[in-house]
Amino acid sequence: MRVTMIGSGYVGLVSGACFADFGHDVICVDKDAGKIEALKNGKIPIYEPGLEQLVANNVEAGRLSFTTELAPAVADADAVFIAVGTPSRRGDGHADLSYVYGAAEEIARAIQGFTVVVDKSTVPVGTGDEVERIIRQTNPDAAFAVVSNPEFLREGAAIEDFKRPDRIVIGAEDERARQVMRQIYRPLYLNKSPIVEMSRRSAELTKYAGNAFLATKITFINEMADLCEKVGGDVQDVARGIGLDNRIGPKFLHAGPGYGGSCFPKDTLALLKTSQDYDAPQRIVEAVVSVNDNRKRAMGRKIVAALGGDARDKTVAILGLTFKPNTDDMRDSPSISIIRTLQDAGATVRAYDPEGVEQARLVLDNVEYCSTPYEAMEGADCAAIVTEWDELRALDLKRMARILKQPVLVDLRNVYDRADVEMYGLSYSGIGR
Ligand code: UDX
Repeated sequence: MRVTMIGSGYVGLVSGACFADFGHDVICVDKDAGKIEALKNGKIPIYEPGLEQLVANNVEAGRLSFTTELAPAVADADAVFIAVGTPSRRGDGHADLSYVYGAAEEIARAIQGFTVVVDKSTVPVGTGDEVERIIRQTNPDAAFAVVSNPEFLREGAAIEDFKRPDRIVIGAEDERARQVMRQIYRPLYLNKSPIVEMSRRSAELTKYAGNAFLATKITFINEMADLCEKVGGDVQDVARGIGLDNRIGPKFLHAGPGYGGSCFPKDTLALLKTSQDYDAPQRIVEAVVSVNDNRKRAMGRKIVAALGGDARDKTVAILGLTFKPNTDDMRDSPSISIIRTLQDAGATVRAYDPEGVEQARLVLDNVEYCSTPYEAMEGADCAAIVTEWDELRALDLKRMARILKQPVLVDLRNVYDRADVEMYGLSYSGIGR
């Protein structure tokens, strides 16, 4: 199959490289000439484990290429995937679909022969209908079908998620398009990955429903953690205790500083907008969004409390900045609200992160970045773990007790045991325990 990806960002690049690895001929298109030039030179603009090698292998095998020229790449394709950004629109939280619609128009002008146009970007219900309308209006002679095929990739595990997915969702209204999609995902059909075929609108909604449900699960356990702290329970035990019930399941029950990232915050907001547009309130999701927003600042206050209630003239070492480990992504990371709350309370912030500093510099002011966790902690009043990077899971506690002015560890990811930490003379403040 000849597959064209419009948009060589995170989703486009990972999906393009994985489709090429399945044996398809893939062209990744992007308007950003600098990005395409870099990709041609083997430079990957994002940090994703295994991606650089996967891209290099498939480029070398002649199955993967990059271009800024959309028209010829579309003309030859059996399927064109739209994998452009759908950021939250400033002001109203609606998903900004201008890139999707722009791509649809350009695709329309370039289509030759029957082409399946696949929406991979996360888009509100009904966007497929609009893409179809735009293509038909721009080029009434085009032979095409529009399919929704949402992605469920986790950053840091995207290649694994793509190749061994929990499920693939294909929303199509057209049998010919379904056949093309089955060809494209053939290796996954063959290895018996669950593939769920449904209507286009159901597929669009499945993506939002999935992310909103996961955000709810996290938020539920986060609030349960607050209750545990008050009543003297341990949220880790409660999570294990409920998670072993098959109907609940053990994943996404890890209490922490609140969810962040490029998907959950944006998609829950967009779902709320859709629910307003269609007058079908999603009160649970509404509560989740507001509880999670409040939680991030509350985590800053938790650190202030660990400092004895007054952060003025104190220095806090923040360990981990990205919204989760194995990424350089700072989008909606809890660390941003936490650091701002600390700064508002008068604290100086020193920070360490293995990959996120470059992105952090773009969103945070007045933070002193350090090249090791110990450099950040040297002379600081307390340390707080905000992202559970592996290298922060086995810190030298003895050394920490020596170099911190006030030996306090605030562990917002519950990666340490209270007893272990206290053995070295550090005081410990975790989440929900
Ligand atoms: C998510 C979805 O998992 C993925 O299917 C979708 O396509 C995109 O959004 P991602 O944002 O990369 O992926 O990260 P994920 O691992 O899901 O974590 C999201 C946030 O939730 C992080 O801030 C993480 O720290 C937090 N989280 C996750 C918790 O606080 N507790 C948990 O138990 C799980």
